[in-house]
Amino acid sequence: MHRQYLYHAARKTVRVSGTTILGLPVSLALLGLTLTLPAAFAQDFAKNDARVDAILSQMTLDEKLGQMVQVDMGALHDKADVQKYFLGSVLSGGNSDPADNEPQTWLKAVNEFQTQALQTRLKIPLLYGIDAVHGHNNIDGAVVLPHHIGLGATHDPALMRQAEQVTAQEVAGTGIRWAFAPCIAVAQDERWGRTYESYGSDTALVGALGAEAVRGLQGDQLSSGPTSVLACAKHYIGDGGTQNGKDQGNDVCDEATLRKLYLPPYAAAIKAGVGSIMVSYSSWNGLKMHANRHLLTEVLKGELGFQGFLVSDWAAIDQISPDYKKDVEASINGGLDMIMIPAALGQPGNYAEFIADLKDLVNLGQVPQSRIDDAVRRILRIKVQMGLFENPWTDPALTAQIGSPEHRQVARQCVRESLVVLKNSGHALPLSKNLKHLVVAGPAADDLGLQCGGWTISWQGSTGAVTHGGTTLLTAIRQTVSSGTEVSYSADGQNLAGADAIIVVVGEKPYAEMFGDRTNVDLSVSDTALVQAAKATGAPVITVLYSGRPMVLGPVLKASQALIAAWLPGTEGTGVADVLFGDAHPTGKLPRPWPKNDQQLSAQFPSGKPLFPVGYGLTY
Ligand code: BGC
Ligand code: BGC
Repeated sequence: MHRQYLYHAARKTVRVSGTTILGLPVSLALLGLTLTLPAAFAQDFAKNDARVDAILSQMTLDEKLGQMVQVDMGALHDKADVQKYFLGSVLSGGNSDPADNEPQTWLKAVNEFQTQALQTRLKIPLLYGIDAVHGHNNIDGAVVLPHHIGLGATHDPALMRQAEQVTAQEVAGTGIRWAFAPCIAVAQDERWGRTYESYGSDTALVGALGAEAVRGLQGDQLSSGPTSVLACAKHYIGDGGTQNGKDQGNDVCDEATLRKLYLPPYAAAIKAGVGSIMVSYSSWNGLKMHANRHLLTEVLKGELGFQGFLVSDWAAIDQISPDYKKDVEASINGGLDMIMIPAALGQPGNYAEFIADLKDLVNLGQVPQSRIDDAVRRILRIKVQMGLFENPWTDPALTAQIGSPEHRQVARQCVRESLVVLKNSGHALPLSKNLKHLVVAGPAADDLGLQCGGWTISWQGSTGAVTHGGTTLLTAIRQTVSSGTEVSYSADGQNLAGADAIIVVVGEKPYAEMFGDRTNVDLSVSDTALVQAAKATGAPVITVLYSGRPMVLGPVLKASQALIAAWLPGTEGTGVADVLFGDAHPTGKLPRPWPKNDQQLSAQFPSGKPLFPVGYGLTY
């Protein structure tokens, strides 16, 4: 069945036809938005297979096995191991940076790895990968975009593409051509610490935005263009559906449910031409995804026709069983094409062991040679398609553009559109730029680290001036108000009296996977006390909440005359000020339900009506 979908691209409405492969976007209709699946972009990676097979036919088994290995930069014994083991890929995990974190240093480091790869007999270029999950977030001075949950609130696929084009340019500027993004998890239970990496709880919304993110990173075609960056849809499949929102946990449901909730975004990403997919740490009915041949090979590569390659998550195959060689066998036979190998507890990575084990399994016939050839063919397809053989180097002109004002402007637009106004009584918002005395309160108001959240410079993120460039909300407010307005700042909630309005900024501390799971999502006692202290002065209180998920507001909702969910907006605090002072109209809508209490944290199993439903958001 074919249907007509609509989506809003910048200021114009575009009508495109697509198939119902995504299922009917019922709840998107609720948001006043329908979608998105342009039919024309399917990409044929197999079209270069004559050339790929010619390369393959020259390769020894060792050269093939090397292509299937991706080692973390911090896990290499020696850079020359790239050459020695014919490694197909190197990555930087969240904490793996070169000695200093400048773009130029990254470029130099990445080029050194590439030089190693090009010294091998067949000169097969290296693919370098990184978690550019909200902008090129590991690099000092790069633009940091809102995390996915905020981008979900924009409901703006065209903006998503533009934002990821910026990310691609910044990634390419460091010599890197592969981003482990977008995360197309459909997070069900917001106790999950990766909820903010998900665009929302609505399958169709995630599919629509994820597909545009792929197009933004790769371009319409993954190609030799200098800013075409290989995208990696992750984490296949059901990462956002684990019981009680447990990270790396277990999905318990039948196959029909698994497919209905989590498969359509992968179909959309494949249709958009995604060249790589990362497998999830999680399990489905007790079986680790990394060993699930049915879902990896039959469904993804067979049924959905995925021609790119499947990469494992960080040391994830090690979790399949206590016997590493069995893990290698199960994952490769299951359909994994490239294995991500980090350092183990201060030890260099076990890539030599992986290669030896896999070689042995091939020689014993336990992993068929045809499976190895298929994996390597898939990896080479992408490298050929990207033109890496002809041009393995980046365009150095891009390096200077990292963190440019033009890029920040796109991020600022993302921030503006991501804010959801949950309450605005008595037209408290927009604020006048001519108030006599404005108080800004709360440590989050002047802290880039809190504004950006996890996966920023470091894996878990941290508080403070984590990166150069960017604007905290306090600075943005000072730049926005008239010269006659006195802005005083109270990080600790002292000296609040005498204001015409108080902007209180509260929220979560940075966290990422493994450390972000919670049993409740209540605002902290000190945040609540701060809002109440502001309220006690008698001035109108505008609360701005930075968080990776909806939080239980308790008395803060009543104590605030206006309240904005600002998610984790990233470096461009200017976008928040734009909405506060009316330079931009709020348009953001909730991408997941907002709970009244801690019994309502699962979107899949709702208990009673939420405080605010999906699609809620006020404007002025
Ligand atoms: C995460 C992935 C990430 C990878 C590399 C894993 O722990 O689950 O999302 O891409 O690490 O940093
Ligand atoms: C790395 C991350 C990775 C995580 C998983 C960290 O040390 O920096 O990239 O996702 O470990 O265990």
